[in-house]
Amino acid sequence: MNIEKIREDFPVLSQKLKAKPIIYMDSACMSLKPRQVIETMNAYYYEYSGCAGRSSHKLGKKTDEEYHKAREMIAKFIGAKPNETVFTRNTTEGINLVANSIGLKPGNVVLTTDKEHNSNLLPWQILANKGIKHFVLESNNDNTFNIDAFQQILEKHRPKLVSVVHTSNLDGVTNPVKDIAKISHEYDAVMIVDAAQSVPHKKIDVKHIGCDFLAFSGHKMLGPTGTGALYGRYELLEKMHPFLVGGDTVVKTTYINADFEKPPEKFEAGLQNYAGMIGMAAACKYLDKLGLDDIEKHEAELNRIITDEIKDIPGLRIIGPADARLRAGIISFTIDKIPSHDIALMLDEMQNIMIRSGQHCVHSWFNANNIEGSARASLYLYNTKEEAQTFIEILKKIAKLR
Ligand SMILES: Cc1ncc(COP(=O)(O)O)c(C=O)c1O
Repeated sequence: MNIEKIREDFPVLSQKLKAKPIIYMDSACMSLKPRQVIETMNAYYYEYSGCAGRSSHKLGKKTDEEYHKAREMIAKFIGAKPNETVFTRNTTEGINLVANSIGLKPGNVVLTTDKEHNSNLLPWQILANKGIKHFVLESNNDNTFNIDAFQQILEKHRPKLVSVVHTSNLDGVTNPVKDIAKISHEYDAVMIVDAAQSVPHKKIDVKHIGCDFLAFSGHKMLGPTGTGALYGRYELLEKMHPFLVGGDTVVKTTYINADFEKPPEKFEAGLQNYAGMIGMAAACKYLDKLGLDDIEKHEAELNRIITDEIKDIPGLRIIGPADARLRAGIISFTIDKIPSHDIALMLDEMQNIMIRSGQHCVHSWFNANNIEGSARASLYLYNTKEEAQTFIEILKKIAKLR
């Protein structure tokens, strides 16, 4: 991969702030967007800007065509079929959709893990208030998935549904979702993958994983903000009742009843984010062309370089396994006596190094472990070895301040 050439596609990176280049290491939250995505969206706004599925005029038809192509592209990107791919605003909406539509009943058990993002915790907590039982699986001491404990919980509590994060935004650890899906199915549980941090960074094939649902976000994978998709096994989508209803979800209504569309349309109520989904498809195309295997390797190499250099800084502790190969493109760390927000502010002030600090929407894990928060650098295809070196150098200076 020619990183310098790739960087030319990202307009944000061509700027300088206070005469210094931007070193963007917050892609786990929000990725930058290449010109190819921006131009594809602009084409929608400048050239056709219609509504899909309703208007029979030329601009409506063009929108319809591009929107259909976008669904095909996004579905193919994760090895799914278009009719199994529901457009959403983000990962959060995908998980909420399943939680509210799958028909869980009081007494049913749902199992998640101790490292879930709030978007894979709160939907189940809300249902717990209505009588479902929510269990949380503890990770191993190094934050990796505890498959033995998982099997024991399945045996004991027989969950109806298992919902786990694929790659954790807390520490970068990737859970063995193929095994988790297989074991869940042996116990007749539905299995959901929160793939917000995996789809942008590695090749994903939902059929290979064998999950029933998989949710991800466009804005973390070079796509427009407020875009996402949910893969669902068709037989399950077909049986589910939409929780958000309205225009475009029905074939026919009378004053007292309605015939719903087939999936995925029955879950997509109201006018949709046409520009966004067409832009998200452009992001898939862009990533596909570069090759996700190479992107994954590049991030792993940068993580190795950073980890090797920072792991022995006095007072610094990396969250998750010591081995960088187990933490994808994420380095989440604390430094004794320096609050995580101060670390992030100093990196930004000193060298425009932009990282995230705090609890990364995994408050539950930080609270359970009595940790105030962490500083988190998250890498992507546009980060360079030179940027990694600058990050190391500035971090060493900051660590000396304690
Ligand atoms: C692991 C994980 N799950 C879910 C989410 C929620 O994503 P979104 O805000 O795009 O819905 C995030 C966002 O950071 C995440 O990292």
